[in-house]
Order: sequence, then C-alpha cells, then structure tokens
Amino acid sequence: MKAALIHNLKPPVKNPGLPADYYSECDSPKTVAAIAAALKKAGYDVLLVEGDKNLPRWLSENPIDFAFNITEGFIGDSREARVPALLELMEIPCTGSGVMTLALAMDKTRSKQIFRQTGVPTPNYQLFTRADEAVDASLKYPLIVKPNAEGSAKGISAKSVVRDEAALREQVRQMLETYKQEALVEEYIEGLELTVGILGDQPLPILEVDFSGCGDSGEYFYSWRMKEFQGNQQMHLDPKFFCPARLSDQATRAVQAVAVKAANALGARDISRVDIRLSSDGIPYVLEINALPGLDPEESNFPIIARAAGISYETLIQRLAQMALARAANELSEITLKEEKLGR
Ligand SMILES: Nc1ncnc2c1ncn2[C@@H]1O[C@H](COP(=O)(O)OP(=O)(O)OP(=O)(O)O)[C@@H](O)[C@H]1O
Ligand SMILES: [Mg+2]
Repeated sequence: MKAALIHNLKPPVKNPGLPADYYSECDSPKTVAAIAAALKKAGYDVLLVEGDKNLPRWLSENPIDFAFNITEGFIGDSREARVPALLELMEIPCTGSGVMTLALAMDKTRSKQIFRQTGVPTPNYQLFTRADEAVDASLKYPLIVKPNAEGSAKGISAKSVVRDEAALREQVRQMLETYKQEALVEEYIEGLELTVGILGDQPLPILEVDFSGCGDSGEYFYSWRMKEFQGNQQMHLDPKFFCPARLSDQATRAVQAVAVKAANALGARDISRVDIRLSSDGIPYVLEINALPGLDPEESNFPIIARAAGISYETLIQRLAQMALARAANELSEITLKEEKLGR
C-alpha cells in the first residue's frame, strides 16, 4: 500500500530578513524521517512530498492509497486546511482532522467563541485590528498579546505579558506590524500549564509542564524561546515534564473532560492536543486546540504523552494511518449502501 507523507520541510538556513520564528511551524528532517520509518515498518511504501503548490500535479502523477499529512502551511489563516481540502477533492484518504476543524482551530478567536457557546472555559479576551482601539474595561491585567492565528508560540515571549495600557498598545502595535494579522489579547491565567492529548476519542494522561526552574532564562511559560530551545540547560530553557500531571484523580478527570468537550466542539478527530491553564481556583481555561500537534519523536508534547500512556512513537504513527484508512473504508461502504438502496 502506498502512502504519501506530506510535509513542509524546515529550510536548512534561516533567512535573516524574516522573523526568527518564521519557519518554526515547519517540519524537521528528523520528524519526517521518524514518521516515514514508522510507516515503513508497518509495511507501507512511503513517498515524501512537500505540501506546496506543486502538490496537485504530484498527486495526479503519483497514485497513492492514503496521505499522512503534517503540513502546516505558511501564509493565510486556512493554511492547515489546504492539503486536506485538496485530498478530499481527489478522494484520497488522509490522517487527522477534517478541513473545517483545521481552519477553525487555526483561528484562536473563532475557536474561543465556540468554546464559550459550548460551556468550555477560556480566558476573557479582545481581538485588536488596530493598536488604538478602545480597550475593553472589563479585562483584568496582566494581559497577554498573541497573534490570532499562529502556532509554535510564534510571537509569544515574556514581553507579551503586559501590565498596563501603554505596554498593551505597544505590544499590539508590534504584533500587527510583524505578524500581519489581528492581535488576540487575553487575560493572563496564573497557574499550571497543562496539555491534553486526545487519540481517537480517548484523552491520554495529562502533561504538566513546569517552568519553575527556568527563571534565569527570562521566560516563565511556554513561550517561543521555551519551545524552540526546549531542553537547553545553558539557556535555562529546560522545563520539567510530569505525565501524568500532579493532580488529584478528580481534577484529572475534570481537566480531561473539558479537553474532550473542547476538541468535540471544534469537531477534531483522530489526534488533537488541547492546551490548558489551570487557574489557582481550579478552573481549566482552554487556550486553544492543536489539530495538527507537533510530532517530533523526542521533543513534541504529543509523543511525550503517548509514551507515558505506553504508546510507542511507531504505534502512534501506525494508529493514525489505520484510523484514516478505516474512516475511508467506512465512507466507501456507506456510499455503496446508499447506491444499492437507490438501485444503482
Ligand atoms: N491566556 C493565557 N494565560 C496564561 N498563559 C498563556 C495564555 N495564553 C498563552 N499562554 C502561554 O503561551 C503559550 C503559547 O500560547 P498558545 O498555545 O496560545 O500559542 P500557540 O502558538 O498556538 O502554541 P502551540 O501551537 O505551540 O501550542 C501557552 O502554552 C502558555 O504557556
Ligand atoms: Mg499552544
């Protein structure tokens, strides 16, 4: 069986004209090789291909049975949804969430509106399209300023947390200028950093990330530098991971339930990771859903969580492929049944 591993490879050299975090959403050769190896081990023939504008031609010239997609794309707020949309059009089975979920999850504000409507706690917020907009007086400082539609904590540093209106406006101004998109301003939730991996419809053990030993780095939450240089002891960017999180059984169940509710609210399927801050008064605030969570075999949160749940990296990758193929087989049999009923 032929599989295409569709990705956006990280360029070997950075372009000094672009922000340092420009390529952070791209895939490292290590991740691509690890996924390919896991698929090969399960007996699939694996072809590697870039998820760029040449993909439609490539797909029409290279027949495949399914696609393992990790493409996050570059520009535009529907960028994660483009490859799955193309595959859907070409009736090629694909791993992971569908088009609508990938587009929605990329947009933090729209995701938050849905969380609100479904009773999922999420920090109070305001979306800025200009730096001089009136500030919602009900928002309580400290606030955090983030790009509305990015991942990998792009644009997020200790400086993103602001304590007064002047600092807020300056951060919003910089955000609009550098990232060319709306700035999402949220109440900053003090508390525990948690992330919940969901595989199929099951939440895995909660991962707690503890930044208390990272003080000398100047960073104290999961900022871009913390993610980009994770594990670098010299830079003091060496957070501790606890999986399962150090929570009571009751709190664990409550956090997992909120995570599943959030993932269902956006219609996520197969794999997703829900980022949560658990406030000191016990409210699990959902920050966002990662519908294409990072799959670096050693460093990414999801594989760390899977390992703690006794699921090896190979098994994780193979299960994702199986889920895509099973879904395609189901859809096909549903269509056949309908056609039979219609006597075609
Ligand atoms: N409202 C908030 N309160 C407290 N911390 C926050 C808040 N928003 C973001 N953070 C911190 O910044 C980190 C990154 O934020 P967020 O998950 O929204 O960005 P992202 O770019 O989508 O991240 P990624 O895709 O890498 O998971 C969070 O994991 C958390 O540590
Ligand atoms: Mg996140």
